[in-house]
Amino acid sequence: MERTERTNRMILPRGWQRTATIILGWIAVVQGWMPSKGVVTGPAPTSLLSSWTCVGIHRHMDETVPHRVQVGDMPLVLWRDPGTDTWLSTVNVCKHMGSRLDLGKITDQGRIKCPYHGLEFGAEDQFGQVMVHEGKLFWSHDPTEPAPPRIPFYHHKDYVTSHLELDMDASLTDCAYNSMDVHHPEFVHRMGFGSSVPPTNLRHYRYTDRDHQLHRVGLSFDYQSNAFMQMLNRNHDVTHNFHMYLYPSFTWSRVSFQTNHLIVALNLCPLAPDKTRWYVTLCHNYYTSSLGKEMMKILALTIMNQDHSQMHLQAAEGPIKHAVTFRRVLDKEDSVWWVREMMKQYQYPDVNVCEQVLRHHYRDRAER
Ligand code: FES
Ligand SMILES: [Fe+2]
Repeated sequence: MERTERTNRMILPRGWQRTATIILGWIAVVQGWMPSKGVVTGPAPTSLLSSWTCVGIHRHMDETVPHRVQVGDMPLVLWRDPGTDTWLSTVNVCKHMGSRLDLGKITDQGRIKCPYHGLEFGAEDQFGQVMVHEGKLFWSHDPTEPAPPRIPFYHHKDYVTSHLELDMDASLTDCAYNSMDVHHPEFVHRMGFGSSVPPTNLRHYRYTDRDHQLHRVGLSFDYQSNAFMQMLNRNHDVTHNFHMYLYPSFTWSRVSFQTNHLIVALNLCPLAPDKTRWYVTLCHNYYTSSLGKEMMKILALTIMNQDHSQMHLQAAEGPIKHAVTFRRVLDKEDSVWWVREMMKQYQYPDVNVCEQVLRHHYRDRAER
């Protein structure tokens, strides 16, 4: 199928499909996973630096030392002030003569001490905000939301959780498309869960925010995995799946059979135009023993490494790629198309963007 342009449309379910959609949407709204539907107008103009970006897994971070992190080209240092038990962040460039600060020490007063000449920086030098949320650290320069989005069932007593991280040689945009793509498992995950049986009962959902702008897309389908995965799924041949992508950097998927649910949530942190860190949360109410948890982690890592192989093959972002891609689309990939619609607003925070943000920050604070 050859396409150069396409009309955006909302799929309106009929009959039971409509009822199922209303119930699903209602549950999600009540749970705070998504805003209510409204009139669709266009993508939300949230910049990455105004959203919450995951920058680390909390239990992996030694609280006695500073941490070097990066959101796009913005160099940051995060550290914990033991006196107030809060995480602080500032630019990872000393305001004196430019040393990296993450190689400095945290003082007894909870300040960070530059290794070059010993200047100290504290809460008055705060740049952006840090939040511990569902086992991960998030950073935002000027958040438009009070907290990062929640992972379904993360705090539910019947569910166990674990975290993984993996660097992908691909843009945040390609990682976002991949998260809503139902066509690649047959090829990329054939040694994982993929089968040649196409997904059935595919439904695509658009969700809008308070300003009626496209903010999230959803996708539900039934999937017949390969024999190996059916065995792990206690001989259930078909799973019911739901994927959600929330602009700009969060996506989760749920795989269900009977009352068993596995949620795989993904927070994306761009490290370069073609490099993205995946912070992965697994949340499940089966295989909940410590052995079961480890098995789920190994399984998830195996599957994500298969994605890694494909992400490594993605062409670099740039005008050539933009001129060529999406001139062909596969059947029933509305949600990928809608992610593309949102991604037209996305800009990788490159050095020019970061410089502007920093200059505004210091100007607003009247710092010379
Ligand atoms: S460069 Fe940091 S105190 Fe001089
Ligand atoms: Fe995949």
